[in-house]
Amino acid sequence: MSGTPPRLILEGLTKSFGTYRAVDAVTLALEPGEFFCLLGPSGCGKSTLLRLIAGFERPTAGRIRLGGQDLTELPPHRRPVNMMFQSYALFPHMSVARNIGYGLKGMGKAAISARVAELLRLVRLDAFGDRRPETLSGGQRQRVALARALAREPKLLLLDEPLGALDRGLREETQGELRAVQRRLGTAFVVVTHDPEEAMMLADRIGVMEAGRLVQIGPPAELYRRPANRYVAGLLGDVNLIPGRLGPDEAGEGRSVETAHGPVRGILTSAMPEGAAVIVAVRPEDLVLGTAGLPATVTETTFLGDRVRRTLRLPDGSILRASGRPTDGDGPPGSEAHAGFAAEAAAILPA
Ligand SMILES: Nc1ncnc2c1ncn2[C@@H]1O[C@H](COP(=O)(O)OP(=O)(O)OP(=O)(O)O)[C@@H](O)[C@H]1O
Ligand SMILES: [Mg+2]
Repeated sequence: MSGTPPRLILEGLTKSFGTYRAVDAVTLALEPGEFFCLLGPSGCGKSTLLRLIAGFERPTAGRIRLGGQDLTELPPHRRPVNMMFQSYALFPHMSVARNIGYGLKGMGKAAISARVAELLRLVRLDAFGDRRPETLSGGQRQRVALARALAREPKLLLLDEPLGALDRGLREETQGELRAVQRRLGTAFVVVTHDPEEAMMLADRIGVMEAGRLVQIGPPAELYRRPANRYVAGLLGDVNLIPGRLGPDEAGEGRSVETAHGPVRGILTSAMPEGAAVIVAVRPEDLVLGTAGLPATVTETTFLGDRVRRTLRLPDGSILRASGRPTDGDGPPGSEAHAGFAAEAAAILPA
């Protein structure tokens, strides 16, 4: 790679199809060498956003810049960006090596074979150059497609559900490969997925999309522990949601919330006025049974070896889930307990 590593900047990027906004005012600055995952449900605009960055769609509004260069009006082939599509079709009649070298046609023969050999090493398929794609496993084909997408040294690689076609075991293995290749190259990757665990495993930062908008951007742990809303909270894992009203801003860690079952404390994730309707989000692993907290009845205890999953019922009938290490104190179903949590472990979200 030469020169200063580029930074991708999206400013108010919008794409409407008729009156429908598939991508709605997306603003994002991607760091050089960053592994960024776009996470969101089917139809939320992930592929459309990638197609805008690659130049296959013209934005209705907004700008795209990469390393100081404005790409907004450039056709796809003039952008230092490559895209690996949701279905990465390899040419079946060509060898793996020719598939990978396909985009390098302008270069000399020797230069092409040197570059192809380098790419085969990168994706750990050194011995597979002469094979036809149909003789490869799904994971190996995926790596050929990745090598092909990287052949022309894009400054930014966009990957649309690159692991979507793989079954579970292969998928986990290939996640590790993808991350390792990206680290070795230092090329910025934007990877679309609708699998939250995959996004958390791969990404430096995740952008959660909902109905065309980027609703939260941050490192995986931040999104998991400090989700901006209940959609993000539920997307990244199991979560308890306890409704209440925001208490006054007084001394002590976090803010108090008055719930139907008594006061609790949590961390505010956005500015809200006292008395606002809020939801306290607590992960099951942060809910602790003891003598302090919300009074509850244990309705079920499931032993899972390394941990125990407990189902609790609050006096109004709502259910909480707690998971943690097995303890001797686990009473039989129907026993009374208190469900507590550290203020630091609870996020206060707008209701
Ligand atoms: N060319 C088009 N014309 C009209 N509507 C379109 C067009 N392309 C996409 N859309 C609509 O825009 C929305 C977003 O589509 P997009 O393909 O970006 O979703 P996605 O997040 O990639 O979904 P998936 O996870 O299913 O791939 C959808 O409602 C889709 O129907
Ligand atoms: Mg898509």
